[in-house]
Amino acid sequence: MGKLDGKVAIVTGAAMGMGAADAAILASEGATVIVADVSENEGRAVAESIGGHFRHLDVTDENNWRELVADVVSTLGNIDILINNAGVVGFTPVATTELAEWNRVIGINLTGVFLGIRSVAESMKAAGGGVIVNLSSTAGMMGYSNLSAYVASKWGVRGLTKAAALDLGRDNIRVVSVHPGGIRTPMTAGIEGDAMYRSQPIPRIGEPDEVAKLILYLVADATYSTGTEFIADGGATVGQVLNV
Ligand SMILES: NC(=O)c1ccc[n+]([C@@H]2O[C@H](COP(=O)([O-])OP(=O)(O)OC[C@H]3O[C@@H](n4cnc5c(N)ncnc54)[C@H](O)[C@@H]3O)[C@@H](O)[C@H]2O)c1
Repeated sequence: MGKLDGKVAIVTGAAMGMGAADAAILASEGATVIVADVSENEGRAVAESIGGHFRHLDVTDENNWRELVADVVSTLGNIDILINNAGVVGFTPVATTELAEWNRVIGINLTGVFLGIRSVAESMKAAGGGVIVNLSSTAGMMGYSNLSAYVASKWGVRGLTKAAALDLGRDNIRVVSVHPGGIRTPMTAGIEGDAMYRSQPIPRIGEPDEVAKLILYLVADATYSTGTEFIADGGATVGQVLNV
């Protein structure tokens, strides 16, 4: 018997990286998982490998969200779990960031999370409750150079999580944010240098399943937690090691 038998879960950005690991761990505990992504080939392959369902979803498109939720509710039943994982990064200094780039990052990373929460709320209420996990970052706990839009989007996700938890708590819907540090995924493929992680208490990059296991705990067992932050960053935000 799985911890999530009979549950219906949507994971956005699940075609690769952390989303794929999240989809796999939820499916392994018995959930029916919808792999929702703009990357069709990779998404279909993930869905097939975990016995789930692929659906095309651009998280910035409210019509896509409306169609996805209507389709899932009519074919699989009400939605119990939403992992708002889809995200993008862009490296530019704040003084030269184009408005279009700012809007792209905020649109996917923050507005996409808002649309996801709004889209599943009624179905979760009908199910008697649910859990929403929003992927923020250590960039939602502190700042990074050359990442202003990304940092703003991830602090936005952290705040939105708290507001949504307050609005939805009485409907038995928990909303939490997860803050990974550097994790080995396609997003970090170009920036995997050891040097970045050397000063952490755990001096290495993280693996997607190390975040997925935390997310499974939050979904299945963290029944008294809502509106708050869960960090998996090798201790990156704890402080600095001083070589004195
Ligand atoms: N990798 C890290 O080190 C790291 C650290 C902290 C937080 N995060 C966050 O974790 C989440 C997952 O990161 P990852 O490293 O697995 O990323 P990734 O780049 O490996 O995968 C992101 C997925 O999101 C999908 N996607 C992009 N735009 C989309 C859209 N508009 N609609 C639907 N899907 C879309 C992509 O197709 C892809 O499948 C992101 O929100 C990211 O910001 C990542």
